[in-house]
Amino acid sequence: MQALILAGGKGTRLRPLTVYTPKPIVPVLNRPFLLYQIEILRRAGVKDITLSLNYQPDKIEQQLGDGASYGVNLRYITEPSPMGTGGAYKYAAAIRETTVVFNGDVLTDLDVSKVIGFHEQKKADATIVLTPVENPSAYGLVETETDGRVRRFLEKPKPEELADLTTNNINAGIYILEPGVLDLIPEGENTSFEYNVFPDLLKLQKEFFAFVMKGNYWRDIGTPTSYLQTHHDFLSGQIKNFEIEKSAEADVATTAIVDKNSILGAGCVVKPNARITNSVIGAGVHIEEKAVVENSVVWAHTRISSQAQIRDAIVGRSCHIGRNSSVGSESVLGDKTSLTDYTKV
Ligand code: GDD
Ligand code: MG
Repeated sequence: MQALILAGGKGTRLRPLTVYTPKPIVPVLNRPFLLYQIEILRRAGVKDITLSLNYQPDKIEQQLGDGASYGVNLRYITEPSPMGTGGAYKYAAAIRETTVVFNGDVLTDLDVSKVIGFHEQKKADATIVLTPVENPSAYGLVETETDGRVRRFLEKPKPEELADLTTNNINAGIYILEPGVLDLIPEGENTSFEYNVFPDLLKLQKEFFAFVMKGNYWRDIGTPTSYLQTHHDFLSGQIKNFEIEKSAEADVATTAIVDKNSILGAGCVVKPNARITNSVIGAGVHIEEKAVVENSVVWAHTRISSQAQIRDAIVGRSCHIGRNSSVGSESVLGDKTSLTDYTKV
């Protein structure tokens, strides 16, 4: 059993955060995002993991290396140009082996070994993991039969298509595929799992089953709102199965307030009377006198000057927030943004 993580998208919806940091390694609680996926694969005993890359592959490889520090073997494959999700799977297939495929932007604490057990028990050609969501229109909607077979796969349904649907279970972006699926994908062509391969599996009446998640956390982190919400979900204890590294070696003034939810990266400096609540602060961030950071994520090496206020926002790496500035709800500042004193955004 091997794994393939599809991590070649440009992360357009997360811009400007993804201009210098490709989506698979945006920090979540100060750790590169893919480490959460690597962790649940490792727990299920899947240690040979290929990362299928296209956008800024070198940065990803530099960060994660050969995987030895995380107890896995990482292999990197870079497509000459984006091949689509199915095309990337075909392009990466060095050996014909059962493969766990992950979309590289879903955060979940799913027990992957349960899905593997289900796939084997059903003797499936393909198993897709589903999760219920409130608004399925932004995802791949999946209807199933009572025995768990997939009946219909509808990617990004239009409003008129949603009307007669009987489910809000969506494709969670996690599959187990037998190597026979490779034979349905043309060589060297841009092919999508969602628009081509899954509908083909149904047409050809392959053994295509759905495993419905129950009681697990699941989220696609691919938009700023969702990325920020992921942090809040972690800080409020809704995501339980990962160890959270609490604050390390920060220099916090005695009159500064850092609430117990917040996390500070190594080498942060927090000056007198600054206040940090419900926030995640990257390594080497300086927060000066009387500055306020609330419900926000601040990436490494940013400086927040005195009396500045950051609320419900995401601030990229190496930014400079001038004195008395205020960064408001849902703002997303890209790396190296510089705000002069008294700016309001
Ligand atoms: N290597 C490679 N090559 N990876 C790709 C390519 C490609 O050409 N295109 C997309 N990817 C990767 C992205 O990096 C991402 O990790 C994953 O495939 C899914 O792409 P998204 O662009 O994030 O798709 P989505 O979120 O709109 O929809 C997909 O995910 C939903 C769950 O979050 C679909 O699979 C939906 O059916 C699903 O519900
Ligand atoms: Mg996505």
